[in-house]
Amino acid sequence: MTQQIELSGVNKYYGAYHALRDINLAIPKGAFVALVGPSGCGKSTLLRSLAGLETISSGDLVIAGERMNDMPPRKRDLAMVFQSYALYPHMTVEQNLTYSLRIKGVKKAEAKKAAEEVAAITGLSDLLHRYPRELSGGQRQRVAMSRAIIRHPKAFLFDEPLSNLDAALRVHMRKEIRALHDRLGATSVYVTHDQVEAMTMADHVVIMRAGVIEQQGRPLDLYDRPANRFVAGFIGSPAMNFIPARVAEDGRSVLLDLPGSQVLAIDFSLPPGHAVLVGIRPEHLKIASAGQSGFDVSIAAVESTGATTFVTTATTPEITFLLNERSSLEAGEKVRLTFEGKNIHVFDAESEQRLGT
Ligand SMILES: Nc1ncnc2c1ncn2[C@@H]1O[C@H](COP(=O)(O)OP(=O)(O)OP(=O)(O)O)[C@@H](O)[C@H]1O
Ligand SMILES: [Mg+2]
Repeated sequence: MTQQIELSGVNKYYGAYHALRDINLAIPKGAFVALVGPSGCGKSTLLRSLAGLETISSGDLVIAGERMNDMPPRKRDLAMVFQSYALYPHMTVEQNLTYSLRIKGVKKAEAKKAAEEVAAITGLSDLLHRYPRELSGGQRQRVAMSRAIIRHPKAFLFDEPLSNLDAALRVHMRKEIRALHDRLGATSVYVTHDQVEAMTMADHVVIMRAGVIEQQGRPLDLYDRPANRFVAGFIGSPAMNFIPARVAEDGRSVLLDLPGSQVLAIDFSLPPGHAVLVGIRPEHLKIASAGQSGFDVSIAAVESTGATTFVTTATTPEITFLLNERSSLEAGEKVRLTFEGKNIHVFDAESEQRLGT
C-alpha cells in the first residue's frame, strides 16, 4: 500500500528534553489516524513535526514519497486545523476561505468558485457573506475545515479541533469531520486526549505516553488485546480493573489476591508465586448466582445514570462493575462477583507487559 506519511526512527529533543522517542508510523493514503495519550505525551509535537513547525532531531519523515525532514512548512502541502479556529474576524466566510488562494495569485472569480464548491461540501453555502462573530462554534469550526479543504492538501492535521465545543456539538462534529474525510478521500491525522473520540473516529489509533508509541492498531484490537497495562487502562471507560494475583502451584493458572478467588487458567507458564495483574473490564463482571465461583467483595458505592449503574467495591484496589438493569444493591452489601476466563487480561506485575495471548 502506498504510504502518504511515513516516520521512521524519529526523535525530537527540546534542548535536553527527549520529547519524541524512536517514532515509527506509516499512514496509508486515505487513512484516518488518531494520536491519543495523556497531556504532555508529545501528540502536538508529533503533529507539529509533520507540519514542519518543529524540526525533528533524527530519523526520517517522508510525505507522498518525498523526504521532508528539512522542507519548510509551506512546501509540505499539509493543512493544520487547530482548536482555536484563527479565522480573520474582519473578513467574511468567503474571504476567509479564498484568502490563501488569493495570496497565491489565484484569480478572484476562480477563488470564489472554489469557495462555493467547498461551502457546498461543508454546508456553508448560505453563510458565505457572514462574519465569524455571526457564526456558532460549530459553524466556525466548519469554516476552519473549509479553509483547509480549499487548498487540496496532501493530508489534514487536526490538533484537538473540538475541545472548545460543548459535549453535544462535539459528538456531532466528530461525525461531520469523519464524513468529510471520507467524502474527500483525504488522509487525516487527528490529535485528541479523548480516547472515545479516537476510538470512534479513527481507522488506526496510536497511543502515546512520555514521547513513546505504546501501541498502535485498529481501535477494537487495542481494546481486545492491549499490549500493556498502560494501554489497557487508557482505552475503555470506566477503566479496566487491575487485580493483583499470583501464579498457582501448577504454574498454569492464577489466583486473585481476594477472598474466595476462583482458579483462572492461563495460556502461558510461569513459576509458582510469580506476581501478575489480572485485568477485567467493568462490563465483564457479573454478580454470581448461587453456587457460582468468583470472588467476594463488599459494595462501597452504587451510582446510576439511568441506563447504567456503576458499582464500586470496598476492596483494595477498588473494583468497578456495571449493571444494565436497575438494581436494589446498596453500599455495605456483600456479593460474589464472577466473570468468564476468556475475558481476562494478564500482565506481569513488574514489567506491566501483557502475558499470553
Ligand atoms: N517548545 C518547547 N520547548 C521545550 N519543551 C517543550 C516545547 N514544546 C513542548 N515541550 C514539552 O514536550 C512535551 C510534549 O509536549 P506536547 O505539546 O507535544 O504534548 P501534548 O501531548 O500535545 O499535550 P496536551 O494534551 O497537553 O496538548 C511536554 O513535556 C512539553 O512540556
Ligand atoms: Mg497538545
